Amino acid sequence: MRAVLCKEVGSIQNLVVEEVADLQAAKGKVVITVKACGVNFPDILVCEGKYQFKPPVPFSPGGEVAGIVKAVGEGVNHLKVGDRVFGGLMFGGFAEEVVGDANMFFPIPEGMDFVQASAIMMTYGTSYHALVDRANLQAGETLLVLGAAGGVGLAAVDIGVALGAKVIAAASTADKLAVCQAFGASEVINYAQDDLKDRIKEITQGRGVDVIYDPVGGVYSEPAFRSIAWNGRFLVVGFASDGNNIPKLPLNLPLLKGAAVVGVFWGSFTMREPKKNMQNFMAMMQMFQTGKLKAHIHATYPLERAVEALQEMAERRVIGKVVLVP
Ligand SMILES: NC(=O)c1ccc[n+]([C@@H]2O[C@H](COP(=O)([O-])OP(=O)(O)OC[C@H]3O[C@@H](n4cnc5c(N)ncnc54)[C@H](OP(=O)(O)O)[C@@H]3O)[C@@H](O)[C@H]2O)c1
Repeated sequence: MRAVLCKEVGSIQNLVVEEVADLQAAKGKVVITVKACGVNFPDILVCEGKYQFKPPVPFSPGGEVAGIVKAVGEGVNHLKVGDRVFGGLMFGGFAEEVVGDANMFFPIPEGMDFVQASAIMMTYGTSYHALVDRANLQAGETLLVLGAAGGVGLAAVDIGVALGAKVIAAASTADKLAVCQAFGASEVINYAQDDLKDRIKEITQGRGVDVIYDPVGGVYSEPAFRSIAWNGRFLVVGFASDGNNIPKLPLNLPLLKGAAVVGVFWGSFTMREPKKNMQNFMAMMQMFQTGKLKAHIHATYPLERAVEALQEMAERRVIGKVVLVP
């Protein structure tokens, strides 16, 4: 089978496509014939050696796939050969086949295609966990999403609207904000042009926002936190703008607002609380089937153009998701 390989950590430009050996399903594992693989920001970080985990080279990036079960290992009861499934992995998805933990794969709901199914695991999994488990977002509350047209950001907009929150989307271009509005954001802020804090004050008439979803970091985190409402929850999701400069917050700010800074680490949550993660996906699948949720696909690329797909993301051009189709 063919796979995109990182043989030397450092730059996404080093990726190559090569023929590698077919995979076997060990105990508790499944082999999936990959039909689509969602691309995420951490795929870039792992190739650059800047992510929390560092797989030994050579490895294939790619943390979420949709496809058909090719083989099941001993002890796997909920899946069988031929099932249409989607699921998450640490890495390995940029390939024609992948092996993963069976308990991280779920049946694709009827009517959902492989591309859509490959685009929801990490982004919707993260944003649902953040908004529901970590922030306890309630209908009627105000939710501010930074980087709102990115992968996790647009999922947060979609889920926030579905949960009945009033969503304020913040992003860097008019095109990005137009997609956020189409996903139900009732207010938008172009933070490349306007002052984030002033606009939040204006939109909320000085009250502030109840929940802030921040996958961007950098210069936006502190002004956003200064705009939080009493009892607010600030979700620390990521640092897409600059992973080398993690924002620091004066601790008087949460004190003054009776507000909480809440960490979100979906990957660790899936391993520590797999049953809760499965429940989250069951709830979301119903929302996808009833049309309350829908992932936005920016573009699809073949394996041979994986570098271009990652480049689009690194250059901040992606709206929603890019998907590789082997
Ligand atoms: N905590 C968790 O469990 C978890 C899970 C998944 C992902 N993450 C993290 O969340 C972040 C976003 O991931 P994603 O897959 O949604 O990425 P993405 O699709 O590329 O979105 C990131 C957004 O950040 C904004 N941004 C600002 N400065 C940027 C820069 N210099 N380079 C790239 N983007 C920049 C962009 O929006 P504008 O152009 O509108 O500013 C972009 O849409 C990453 O840091 C990722 O590691 C965390």
